[in-house]
Amino acid sequence: MTRSRSSGAAALLCPLLGACLWSAVVGYKPVIVVHGLFDSSEDFKNLQRFINESYPGTNVTVIDLFDRSSSLQPMWKQVEGFKAAIYPIMQNAADGVHLICYSQGGLVCRGILSTLPDHNVHSFISLSAPQAGQYGDTDYFRIFPQFVKSNLYHFCYTGVGQLISICNYWNDPHHRDLYLNSSDYLALINSERPNPNSTEWRRNFLKIQKLVLIGGPDDGVITPWQSSQFGFYDDNETVVEMQHQELYLRDVFGLKTLVARGDLILCTVPGVEHVLWHSNETVFHACIEKWLM
Ligand SMILES: *[C@@H]1O[C@H](CO)[C@@H](O)[C@H](O)[C@H]1NC(C)=O
Ligand SMILES: *[C@@H]1O[C@H](CO)[C@@H](O)[C@H](O)[C@H]1NC(C)=O
Ligand SMILES: *[C@@H]1O[C@H](CO)[C@@H](O)[C@H](O)[C@H]1NC(C)=O
Ligand SMILES: *[C@@H]1O[C@H](CO)[C@@H](O)[C@H](O)[C@H]1NC(C)=O
Ligand SMILES: *[C@@H]1O[C@H](CO)[C@@H](O)[C@H](O)[C@H]1NC(C)=O
Ligand SMILES: *[C@@H]1O[C@H](CO)[C@@H](O)[C@H](O)[C@H]1NC(C)=O
Repeated sequence: MTRSRSSGAAALLCPLLGACLWSAVVGYKPVIVVHGLFDSSEDFKNLQRFINESYPGTNVTVIDLFDRSSSLQPMWKQVEGFKAAIYPIMQNAADGVHLICYSQGGLVCRGILSTLPDHNVHSFISLSAPQAGQYGDTDYFRIFPQFVKSNLYHFCYTGVGQLISICNYWNDPHHRDLYLNSSDYLALINSERPNPNSTEWRRNFLKIQKLVLIGGPDDGVITPWQSSQFGFYDDNETVVEMQHQELYLRDVFGLKTLVARGDLILCTVPGVEHVLWHSNETVFHACIEKWLM
């Protein structure tokens, strides 16, 4: 309540004071943005503008790492790289920070939140990210010309395949055993393959205050689109919603706990193509704005 009144006051006072001294006093939490596959920090100008309009003077950092084709590097490598860039920002933010993580970046952020014991992330906003994995042909996969979704597992579930980010979260519902055995990233952070760090990762992840999962049926890239909200295909390619997924029911990394705490927010918006999620003002107001207070 106090915060929403302050932001109204900031909007009023900024023009009067000229410089937005008020926001420096109120101190909106810094916002950190992690980009996705094949994009770069340049693509978030609109998002930066929306945030600045709603919360003037907010320090927004779009991390400029693993741009364009570098975003194909292995997920754990990206987790370490982004983590090193983000950690000093967290340390400078006594009241904590917010994370907005787009597309593949949403999975990078989950890796960071799981492996950083003293993070101070309040809202983790996952913007059309394939949180439950990807199984679908898209233009992004032109890098694998000889493969389609039904045979990509031959490549992805190998040691060489796992050196490419997409394969780290490729989730072929017809080859579940291979996925569980071979995925060096998604199957681990989901604790679908047992690993000694699960308990600690879960504890770290649950330090977030809010998890906001944004996605929609007209995305066109994330497949199934419900993966943005932890739904995924069964072996008939029928989508099973999050609440019926085993990883949810077993609460392996804390999703069910977040729901019980009232801290998991789903925001579904039709009519938004994958590449436009961060640039659509309707999405910002409906799904993002209030979690950045
Ligand atoms: C934020 O908005 C103010 C006021 O319109 C403007 O002067 C400033 O350049 C903006 N900052 C960013 C980073 O967009
Ligand atoms: C914004 O945050 C970054 C990272 O913590 C810091 O280097 C920079 O000085 C901050 N900018 C302002 C205007 O406070
Ligand atoms: C699982 O992976 C190990 C080594 O990574 C391999 O030796 C084993 O054959 C695999 N099992 C299956 C069922 O693919
Ligand atoms: C568990 O964490 C330790 C220390 O952070 C790390 O060296 C190890 O590789 C992790 N194990 C797995 C399975 O990721
Ligand atoms: C998959 O579909 C087939 C044919 O429609 C059906 O017989 C089978 O029960 C389904 N399996 C599951 C797990 O839903
Ligand atoms: C943003 O998304 C909304 C909701 O689907 C849509 O109606 C609107 O046309 C979009 N705006 C732009 C500028 O694309």
